[in-house]
Amino acid sequence: MIRRLRTTPTEPVADAEGRLSAPAALRNRDAILDVLLPRMPRRGDVLELASGTGEHIAALAAHRPDLDFHPSDPDPSRRTSIDAHCRGLPNVAPAGDIDVGEPGWAIEKAADMVLVVNLLHLISDAELSVLLDEASRALAPGGLLAIYGPFLRGGLLTSEGDRSFDASLRAQDPAVGYKDVDMLRTVLQVLELAVEVVEMPANNLMVLGRAKAVAGL
Ligand SMILES: C[S@@+](CC[C@H](N)C(=O)[O-])C[C@H]1O[C@@H](n2cnc3c(N)ncnc32)[C@H](O)[C@@H]1O
Repeated sequence: MIRRLRTTPTEPVADAEGRLSAPAALRNRDAILDVLLPRMPRRGDVLELASGTGEHIAALAAHRPDLDFHPSDPDPSRRTSIDAHCRGLPNVAPAGDIDVGEPGWAIEKAADMVLVVNLLHLISDAELSVLLDEASRALAPGGLLAIYGPFLRGGLLTSEGDRSFDASLRAQDPAVGYKDVDMLRTVLQVLELAVEVVEMPANNLMVLGRAKAVAGL
C-alpha cells in the first residue's frame, strides 16, 4: 500500500515535463553512485523499487549505458516524473507499477541488481518481509540487492535527527518507522545473501546482499 506520509516540509512540484526533484535525492545521489558503480553487474538488468522522482536511476543509467534499467513506483505522479527524467536514455524502460508489499512482482523479470533507496522506514515489517522475499527470488545468480537509508543500530536511534524523523513517521502511522540493520543483516543471511554494510553520509547506510554465483554463468 502507498501511505501518504509527510517526510519533507514541502511537497515537490513538477516542472512542465512532469519532472519532480527531491532535495534529498540530489544530496545523496553522488555518494550512492560512488558505492554502487564499482559493485554493479557487468551486464544485465537493474530493477529499482520505489524510484520516486527518478533522479537516482537516471544518473545510474547515464553512467552505465550497457545495462538495462527498470524503474518502478506505485504512485502514478512519480512514474510520470521517472519517465520524464529518463527521456533520452534508451537503456531505461518505462516505469512499472510495483508495490513492494504485494507478493508476486519477482516473477516478472530476473534482475542482476535490485535497488531500494529510502523506502524501508516508510513501510511496515510485513511489507518489508515481502520485499526481501521477493527481491531474493528476483535476483539472478551473483546478483546484488542494494538497500540505502536510515536504520536503527542494535535497536537504537543514533542521532537526534533520526530520533525526531522516526518519531514523526510513527506518529503518522505506527506500522512504519526505522528498521534495524542487524535484523536486516540476519534476514539477508538467512536468504543466503553475502552481506556488506557501508557507512554513508548523514548517518545513513548502504546494505548490500550478494546472491551466490553459479559456476559458468
Ligand atoms: C522517500 S521516497 C524515495 C524515492 C527515491 N527512492 C529517492 O530516494 O529519491 C519513497 C518512495 O516510495 C514509494 N512507495 C511508498 N510505498 C511504497 C510501496 N509500498 N511500494 C513501493 N514503493 C512505495 C513512494 O511512492 C515514493 O516514491
